[in-house]
Order: sequence, then structure tokens, then C-alpha cells
Amino acid sequence: MEKKETLKDGTKVLIRKLHINDLDRLMKFYSNLPPEDRKYLRIDVTNKEVVKQRIKLTKAGNVFRLVALFEDEIIADGALELSGEEWRKHQGELRVIVARPFQHKGLGMILVRELYFLAIEKNVEQVVVKMMNPQIAAQRIFRKLGFQEELHIPDYVRDQAGEKQNLIIMTCNIKDLWNELEHFYSGSDWQRCR
Ligand SMILES: CC(C)(COP(=O)(O)OP(=O)(O)OC[C@H]1O[C@@H](n2cnc3c(N)ncnc32)[C@H](O)[C@@H]1OP(=O)(O)O)[C@@H](O)C(=O)NCCC(=O)NCCS
Repeated sequence: MEKKETLKDGTKVLIRKLHINDLDRLMKFYSNLPPEDRKYLRIDVTNKEVVKQRIKLTKAGNVFRLVALFEDEIIADGALELSGEEWRKHQGELRVIVARPFQHKGLGMILVRELYFLAIEKNVEQVVVKMMNPQIAAQRIFRKLGFQEELHIPDYVRDQAGEKQNLIIMTCNIKDLWNELEHFYSGSDWQRCR
């Protein structure tokens, strides 16, 4: 899968699946993230071994990763993780991260849309996102897409600095997500005029 997309400011980007040989590109992307964006990720993405294991997991078949590239450099990363557990087989978890210079240009929304298509292919019925309290932009983007906050657990996780943070779990029915995505794109001049 490879798709060319145009961001709100006209920047052309390529969206494709993450390849096993993307390790160095991915490390460069992660190491260029500002500490504030890295702080709330669930693993230490500056550790090459950890990132390597993460890429390998995509081969196991439960995690699907997409990346966005600009001039052959990774500028955003998105994942759909299916639960291996029988009782949560209908669920898929989404994660998205966009490099600062490319934020606010619609790339996060584009990745969510592409992950939505993947989720449909994998028969996901309920989409889940998990984030820490300070990840305000993420909460806003997912609320806008129809996600509801289901759970807010105080001091449940630790950020990369070791500080305890509240965990927020939001969910959305896959059909409602499509309605919101359609609504978002039909109301957007940027996508209509492409
Ligand atoms: C969350 C994130 C992926 C959004 O990516 P993005 O490319 O900037 O998002 P978009 O440009 O597609 O914005 C979509 C909507 O999200 C909301 N949004 C995006 N950034 C925001 C911010 N900093 N503050 C408040 N709302 C924001 C807006 O409602 C926006 O729609 P609008 O531009 O029509 O107002 C990005 O901010 C990011 O990578 N943050 C750090 C990592 C993170 O928290 N990931 C989420 C874990 S699941």
C-alpha cells in the first residue's frame, strides 16, 4: 500500500506500510521528536533495540504500522494493534504521532483515516485509544472523531520521566468513526479542493 497525500499547506507526503528496513529512518524520526512529545509514549523510542523489537512485532501479525514520508524521511507514525485475546478480538487500538514541523496540517487525521481502512479490513468493531492526561491534542482529535472517554484512571502509568500520570481510555464504534471522518472531510475545503 502506497498513497500520495497533500497536506493543508500543499506539502506532498507519501503514506505507506512500515518496512523492516526502516529502522534507521524511524530512529531518526523518534530522536528528532521534542522531549514533550516523547515523554508520554509507552516505550523509550530512543532505544534502538526496543524500536527494533517493535518493528519485528509487525511481522507477528497483530500490529500494523503506517508511516508518512517527506523526501524519504519519516515524519509520522501510526499503528493499529489488534488484541490477541479472545474476549477483545473485536477491538483495535490506534496510535498516531506526527513530527512537530508537520503538525496542524491534517496529517494526524489522514493517518487515522488510513488506520480506519486497515481496521475495517481486519473486522475491528470497536476502536480504542489510550493516552496520558497531558496529551491534550490527541484527546481533542479523537473527541472530534466521535471517541468517548470511557475511563480515566488516576496515577495509573508512568511517563518517560518516571512521573505518574492519569491514563485516559477512549473508545469509538467503527461505524461512528466513519461517519465522523466523512463529516470531517466533506466539511473541509482543503480536501474538497485537492
Ligand atoms: C495528536 C497528533 C497526532 C495530531 O496530529 P496533527 O497532524 O497535528 O493533527 P491534525 O492536523 O490532523 O489535526 C486534527 C485535529 O486535531 C486537533 N488538534 C491537533 N493538534 C492540536 C493541538 N495542539 N491542540 C488542540 N487540538 C489539536 C484539532 O481539532 C485538529 O483539527 P483542526 O485543525 O481542524 O482544528 C499530534 O499532535 C502528535 O503527534 N502529538 C504527540 C503524540 C500524541 O499525543 N499522540 C497520540 C497518542 S494516541
